[in-house]
Amino acid sequence: LEIEAREVLQAARDAKELENLRVKYLGKKGSLTELLRSMGSLPKEERPRMGQVANEVREAVEAAMNAARDRIGRLEMEARIARETIDITMPGKVFSQGTKHPLTQTLDELKEVFIGMGFTVAEGPEVETVVNNFDMLNAPANHPSREMTDTFYINEQVILRPQTSPVQVRVMKSTKPPIRIIAPGRCFRNDTPDATHSPMFNQLEGLVVDKGSTLGDLKGSLEIFARHLFGEHTQIKFRPHYFPFTEPSAEVDVTCFKCQGEGCSVCKGSGWIELLGAGMVHPNVLRNCGIDPETYSGWAFGMGIDRIAMQKYGIDDIRLLYENDLRFLSQF
Ligand code: PHE
Repeated sequence: LEIEAREVLQAARDAKELENLRVKYLGKKGSLTELLRSMGSLPKEERPRMGQVANEVREAVEAAMNAARDRIGRLEMEARIARETIDITMPGKVFSQGTKHPLTQTLDELKEVFIGMGFTVAEGPEVETVVNNFDMLNAPANHPSREMTDTFYINEQVILRPQTSPVQVRVMKSTKPPIRIIAPGRCFRNDTPDATHSPMFNQLEGLVVDKGSTLGDLKGSLEIFARHLFGEHTQIKFRPHYFPFTEPSAEVDVTCFKCQGEGCSVCKGSGWIELLGAGMVHPNVLRNCGIDPETYSGWAFGMGIDRIAMQKYGIDDIRLLYENDLRFLSQF
C-alpha cells in the first residue's frame, strides 16, 4: 500500500488529483482506514504490531502527500506566472478621445466673457408657462409668436419655451436688484429644419437691472463682448426693432470676423451678421415682476448660441450641430 501510494502521489499533476488520492488513501472509506478496521479480526497479540505498522504507513503516505502538495503548488505558481506575464514591449492600445461639442465650446467661451464682466449664470426650465413666457413679458394677447405655428404648446398654459427670456421673469421675481445674470439654455420653435433653422436651438439671455442702468451700458457691454469673442476690430451696430418686453428694442449686428465683402460665403458679402436682440427692459415687465420702474431700470439681450458657433467655426448648416456625426464632431 505504502509503495503504491508513494508512486501515484509522485505522478499527481494538480490539486484536484491530489485531493482524490487523499480521499482514496486517507479518507473515511480509504484504504488505510479499511486496513485499521480489518484489524478487529486479527488475534489479540498481533494487533499492537499491526497498529504500529499501520501508523508508520499513514505517516509515510502523509509525508508523500505533503511532498506532492508542495510540488504541485510550485508547478501551479510557475504556470500562473507564465500565464500572467505582461509583455511590456507590445504596442499600446490607442483610445480615441472625445472632444467638447462646438456648442459647448462656444458656450464656455461666452460664459467666460460675461462672468469676467460680473455676470452670474442663471437657469430656467425648458418647459415653461404661458404666463412667464408671454403675459409677464408684456406680449400682447394677439402677438404672432403666441400662435401654435411658432410655439409648441403642451396645453393652454404650458409650452416648450421658444426663448430664454422667461428666465428674466423668474430671476426678477426671486431676486432683488442689482441683477446681473446670463441664462443659457435650449429653446424650441415649430420651424421646419433647414440650413439655418432647427426646431431645437440654444439661446443665451442676458439681464441687468440696477439703479441708473442705461442704453449706453448695454451698447458698451455688447461691444466688449463682441470684441472678446470675434476680435478687437469688431464693430457693432444697433438697428431699431420690436420686442414686447423691451423699449426701445434693437437688433444688433456685428462685422463679420471671418471675412468681408465679395466672395465671403459666411457673411453673404454684406460684411455684417445679425447676432442678437436687445433693449431696455419695458417698465411693464419690471412692474409685473415687482420691481419699481421709477427706481430701477434694466437692459436685456438674447442671442442664438448656434449662430455664434456657426460664425466662429465656419459651419454652414445648423443641423450639423444636432446630428452627432463623428466625422463632423471630431473636427473640433
Ligand atoms: N427673446 C428674443 C428672441 O428670442 C431676444 C431678446 C432677448 C430680445 C432679450 C431683447 C431682449 O428673439
